[in-house]
Amino acid sequence: MSSSSSRITGFYRLAPSERRRRLLEFAGGTDLGEPGWPGPEGFAAVDPGALTLEAADGMIENVVGIYGLPFAVAVNFTIDGDDALVPMAIEEPSVVAAASNAARMARPQGFSTVVSPPVMIGQIQVTDIADVNAAARTLRGHSDALLRDARRLVPRLAERGGGPVALDVRPLVRSGPDGGVLVVHLHVDCRDAMGANLVNTLCEALADRVAEIAGGRPGLRILSNLCDGRTVTVRCSIDDALLAGDRADGAEVRAAIAAASRFAEIDPYRAATHNKGIMNGVDAVLVATGQDWRAVEAGAHAYAAQGGGYRPLAVWRERSGGLDGELVMPMAVGTVGGALHVHPGARLALDLAGAHTADRLAAVAGAAGLATNLAALRALATEGIQRGHMALHARGLARAAGATGELIDRVADELAATGEVKVDRAREVLARLCSAAMVKDSP
Ligand code: MEV
Repeated sequence: MSSSSSRITGFYRLAPSERRRRLLEFAGGTDLGEPGWPGPEGFAAVDPGALTLEAADGMIENVVGIYGLPFAVAVNFTIDGDDALVPMAIEEPSVVAAASNAARMARPQGFSTVVSPPVMIGQIQVTDIADVNAAARTLRGHSDALLRDARRLVPRLAERGGGPVALDVRPLVRSGPDGGVLVVHLHVDCRDAMGANLVNTLCEALADRVAEIAGGRPGLRILSNLCDGRTVTVRCSIDDALLAGDRADGAEVRAAIAAASRFAEIDPYRAATHNKGIMNGVDAVLVATGQDWRAVEAGAHAYAAQGGGYRPLAVWRERSGGLDGELVMPMAVGTVGGALHVHPGARLALDLAGAHTADRLAAVAGAAGLATNLAALRALATEGIQRGHMALHARGLARAAGATGELIDRVADELAATGEVKVDRAREVLARLCSAAMVKDSP
């Protein structure tokens, strides 16, 4: 491979140490401990013990240990014209392979993205209002002044081009158990931060004044995870030749994927699973890079449900000779703050992804989501997903039975071929292959 190409053939067959070496080639480095890229700690940042018990104890409460997850890199991605490595932390087999395979299919044109400005919404609820519509009018009259006050609270962020950018008022109910209720939305450009702390602080600081102007009582002051103003759009286009499978030609696969997309567009039961396949890729990147993945999950599903029904976040359409995919979803991520100060693995993941801004991280996570969606639909539309899952599961069982080196593939192939993917069977096959080798080697 050339040093900056993410197209690394046979990456999955290499030993972890060899994979590390190949990734360093991507960055032009040679030494695992080399400062610069991938960080002064190198890959030690994802070795056991990298996150110390002491650091973990400072992150959350009642800590009793460190919980591990496999950390992997999906290859073959090009995103907005640049080759990209996609770090993933996930327990589910086949997601990393699926992402890499789909990225290979999308590679000729690559993934293209549009990331909106990083604007989050903070909500200030006001209750017990006698006349909600009159209160909303009064608040709107004060919105410029309120916005000015809010901006004064974050002068350094405002200097960097961020800070509060708009304020709007949404009357909710005229009367009820909480009296008249309205909510003020403060829109805040968070630059490279995810922004939860920033937005919550601003909402808490403004709440009393807002309630006073509205003639009501301050209620909740907290960010909304439905950040529909902070989205990523990802597109890709695959030619038929690259979609073809063992038993189906490209045009058939293309038609089947477009039909699978339409199924998700008319049925929320299917749309939930379709979106789960997207979140497989997105969440794996978010976990690896130390993001608040629950926030992105909450935003994704609320966005999918905006407008009444529950919709797929990505759709696929046929064109002459190929297939076009488009994903649109909220993506509240940050490359400063949060767990990033303390988690060496998260910092390494950002380095590997080349994601030094929230925009680029949103693009990488979104591309991973569209890739895992494509891979899932292609598998479902052709041979079903179980064959691939079982092949990977068989490799896991072969290792668990004690196989090493080339024996892993030989045991796994036999398990997959017979359909008996069980650890006892793996032990039997391994014992047979080992004794056959001993007979062959004996003088
Ligand atoms: C499994 O983790 C994800 C899939 O169910 C997604 C899909 O059905 O589109 C394969």
